This record gives sequence, structure tokens and C-alpha cells, in this order.
Amino acid sequence: MVKSWIFKEKGDTGSWVEHPESDLPDEPVLIDVVHSAINYKDALSLTRSAPISRRFPMVPGIDVVGTVRDDKSGTFKPGDRVVATGFGLGETHWGAYSTAARLKPEWLVKLPDDLSSRDAAAVGTAGLTAAMAVNALEAYGLPLNSGEIVVSGATGGVGSFALRLLDAAGYHAVAMTGRPGEEAYLRAQGATDIVARAEFEQDAKPIAKERWTAGIDVAGGKILANILSTTKYGGSVAACGLAAAMDLPSSVAPFILRGVNLLGVDSVMASQAKRAAAWQRVGAAIAKRPLGDMVFEHKFEEAAELAKNLLASKSKGRIVLSW
Ligand SMILES: NC(=O)c1ccc[n+]([C@@H]2O[C@H](COP(=O)([O-])OP(=O)(O)OC[C@H]3O[C@@H](n4cnc5c(N)ncnc54)[C@H](OP(=O)(O)O)[C@@H]3O)[C@@H](O)[C@H]2O)c1
Repeated sequence: MVKSWIFKEKGDTGSWVEHPESDLPDEPVLIDVVHSAINYKDALSLTRSAPISRRFPMVPGIDVVGTVRDDKSGTFKPGDRVVATGFGLGETHWGAYSTAARLKPEWLVKLPDDLSSRDAAAVGTAGLTAAMAVNALEAYGLPLNSGEIVVSGATGGVGSFALRLLDAAGYHAVAMTGRPGEEAYLRAQGATDIVARAEFEQDAKPIAKERWTAGIDVAGGKILANILSTTKYGGSVAACGLAAAMDLPSSVAPFILRGVNLLGVDSVMASQAKRAAAWQRVGAAIAKRPLGDMVFEHKFEEAAELAKNLLASKSKGRIVLSW
């Protein structure tokens, strides 16, 4: 038998259910799930705050780390440690909150020997997204010692990883947070300075005093608009989230007067090449400096409660789930 969190139908609030393994989707790779995580999207899904799961019945959980038990495609061998993030897991395909999963081989990456399963889950969608954001900024030119790079949602999963990855590469990362009491945590992740989120929650002027060489934004809305209008000439801002809002109340002024670049980041359907580059970056950073105080370990059964806390900004860093 398999134990899974299942949304039986649209509108169902979900529950843990024991069911036969034959209920799993008909995909080639059978995995014993060892870990998952709680991303913002998982929290929205578990609390039914947004329609993340779009087919039913559905098992949520967008990050899977596990051990291969069987692979009909012949790509993996039993015992291989693997990770999958995105690709519609928990949305259109049964995801991670289960003791077992059946997945397509092309969704899976074999973990390198020097990356633990627990650390791979800590990275998950959040770490990959942060790495893709830094890679996108560098692709547009990001000289070292060029100035400050602002990171919004800094105590969160993407934000904490962004601080670490920027710090590991020698950049000056400034943490924007709604929780000034977390200054010690943010500096431990690599922030060289802290700015209050409240300063960025006002209506944005088309152009304001230049401060940032670049930015990584998980908030959207007025926060992204204010980052754009304070980004220096030629700078880039990687937009990857909507923790504040989906809209963007900005103007074209930063683009046409300062040549600012707005770079979109999506890790869900990202190419294998972008994924490989992101895993490389984040793996190297972890090898240099362990994740330490940014990982909080919990049991899968606690997921629903943890999701509520995450949406209420009562958690920080990365929540890793184990059986
Ligand atoms: N594009 C992609 O592929 C991709 C992938 C992963 C995540 N995302 C998106 O990125 C965002 C962050 O994800 P996550 O997993 O890092 O979530 P998370 O761990 O919950 O972190 C979100 C952080 O945003 C800040 N925040 C919370 N409410 C806010 C508000 N109303 N206005 C401004 N900031 C607020 C908080 O940081 P402070 O308290 O420090 O301000 C919070 O810790 C989400 O919108 C998620 O959907 C996108």
C-alpha cells in the first residue's frame, strides 16, 4: 500500500489516504519518495488558496526526492537517488506528498554522490529558481564589485538561496524583508545589508534615485515596480514570483530611459540545459558552505499545518519533509 495526500475532486480539502500502489499513474519510473519540501506553490495548493492542482484526483507536492525501485524505461537502476522539480508535478501529474511516485524518466535528475538527498530536497524548486535568476542576471552582464543587488522575500526559500548564491559568487546582496527581526538570519545567509519591505510598498515613481545594480524579485506588484524604478542604468531585474501581487504597476520609463532589463524566470518548464546549470551552481555553493540554519526538517504528516504557517510568513528558509 501507498500513503498519499489526495485531493479527491475539485473543492476537496484533501487528506492522507492509504491506497493500492496500482493507483499510481502509469509512468515508467517507480520511486520510493524519501523527501519533499514546502514551496510557496505547495502552500497555496495544500491550503486550497489557489487552484494549483488542475486534475483530480491529485497528489500535491512539486519537488520529489527519492530512490528508484524500478524503471521500465531502462534509464535508471534500482537504488539510484533522483530528484524531480516542476513539470506539472502536483498540478497535472501526481506529485511528491506520497510514499511512492511514478514519473517520466525525462523529469528526473540523478543526484551526484556528493549531494545528500536531504540537501537536494532543500534546494528543490526554490534553490533552482534562485540559481536560474542569478544565471539570468549574469547572462545580461553582472560585473563583480559593481554594486548592490537587491533580493526581495529574503527570508523565504527563493530569497534565502538567492542571498547564498550571490554571496558565494562574491556579489553584494541586499536583503529586502518584511521581518526586520530576522536580520541575524539574513546576514548569516550572505546579506551585506538589509532594507525594509515597507519602503517598496508605496506607489512607484516612473524613475527614482538609482541604487541597485540588479535585483531578484519574488514579490511582483508595487515591490517589483519600485525595484525597477531604482535600478541603475543598464541593470537587470529577474522576476520570479508574486508573493505580493500578480500585477506590475510600473511604466516603460526604466526600460527606455535607463535601459533596464526585466528578465522572466520560470523553473517549472525550464530546459534541461538551464536545470543542469542551476544544479551545478547550487551544488557548488553547498559544497563550499553547508545549508546549516536555513533548513527546517519536518514529517510529511505536518505538511498541512506547515503550509498555513508559510503563507502567514511564520516560517523561513526551506522546509524539508521526511517520512
Ligand atoms: N518562477 C518560478 O519558477 C518560481 C519558482 C519558485 C517560486 N516562485 C515564486 O516565488 C515566490 C517565493 O516563493 P518561495 O517558495 O520562496 O516562498 P516563501 O518561502 O514563502 O518566501 C516568500 C517570502 O516572500 C515574502 N513575502 C511574504 N508575503 C509578502 C508580501 N505580501 N509582499 C512581499 N513579500 C512577501 C516573505 O519574505 P520577507 O518576510 O523576508 O519579506 C516570505 O518569506 C512565490 O510567489 C512563488 O510562487 C516562482
